[in-house]
Amino acid sequence: MEKFSSWRDKGTGISPFMPVPLPLSQEKSAFKRTLLSVVKVPLFIIKLPFFILFTLAYYITSLKPLANFVFFVLFGFKNIDFSVEGVKKSNIDVINKNKPSPNDIIVANYSSPIDGLIYALVANTYNWHNVKFLVPNQSGELFEYSLWSLVNHSFDNSVSGSKVESLSSYKNKVVFLLLEGTTSNNKALLPFVPLSPNYNFDGFAVKTLVSKISPGYLTMPIPVSKLGYLFELLTNLNKLTLNYIKLKCYKFDKFEVVELRKTFALNSLNSIDKNLNIAEKQKFVAYYKNHDVKKTD
Ligand SMILES: *[C@@H]1O[C@H](CO)[C@@H](O)[C@H](O)[C@H]1NC(C)=O
Ligand SMILES: *[C@@H]1O[C@H](CO)[C@@H](O)[C@H](O)[C@H]1NC(C)=O
Ligand SMILES: *[C@@H]1O[C@H](CO)[C@@H](O)[C@H](O)[C@H]1NC(C)=O
Repeated sequence: MEKFSSWRDKGTGISPFMPVPLPLSQEKSAFKRTLLSVVKVPLFIIKLPFFILFTLAYYITSLKPLANFVFFVLFGFKNIDFSVEGVKKSNIDVINKNKPSPNDIIVANYSSPIDGLIYALVANTYNWHNVKFLVPNQSGELFEYSLWSLVNHSFDNSVSGSKVESLSSYKNKVVFLLLEGTTSNNKALLPFVPLSPNYNFDGFAVKTLVSKISPGYLTMPIPVSKLGYLFELLTNLNKLTLNYIKLKCYKFDKFEVVELRKTFALNSLNSIDKNLNIAEKQKFVAYYKNHDVKKTD
């Protein structure tokens, strides 16, 4: 019989698909738990109309300040700390120039429904239409998602964007490549899906972007309800210093997956079992949904 431990990496003991527990479920004192839920519900009800309004307005107008309002005010993130390997923090001009830009292919982590928004916010382009997310299916064919359809894909891997025949039509776009193909829980990088050899990355600047999302429970290895996830986003009562995104960018001369992957390994001690791939995650999700959530074995 299968157990949760079947999806644990043998070497490190990491379970990349296991959700990070929510703060409320971790709270030991029943009094505090009740108090927190009492505060969170009205907060959610107050913020929700603003969320809908500003998100819709951003969708229609592509004005970044609207998205910034959602991200920093409504979700309560303190900052997005963007750094470039080998460039001093004080060198702001160079750092800004190296932000994801048109004609860039950026291999990045995929761990949550807000990844698209985060990446669009740091991109050197005003218009969200210029930011594209390419995610491979299990056979290595790429599919195109927008910031919005990527949200759907993160909740349901079977949601499919339009198939990418060739990368030549992405010349003036900021292209994020989410090679894991599915979300994980921020503890490790999943194996990259080997891409179909038909894709040619010539003519693009190649970068990787290693991300860290705090708090970790905002990563979503296992789909939860969309409303439940939004509830957590809008009612985050952590200290401000605990809510941040860290992004580190590396530049490359060519698209060489093995080399690209190393930058992720540098930022983590965890290289994960090759077998913990999309198919295994699907099995894990099915198993998880039929068993006691608290069980870890
Ligand atoms: C991936 O997409 C291609 C092209 O649509 C399709 O032929 C293939 O069956 C898909 N693979 C999987 C595992 O769904
Ligand atoms: C995402 O899914 C919702 C329903 O679940 C649908 O209404 C919406 O059109 C989808 N959005 C995109 C951009 O695919
Ligand atoms: C991105 O990958 C690195 C390297 O494996 C990992 O340390 C980090 O937690 C990942 N970030 C996210 C947000 O999943």
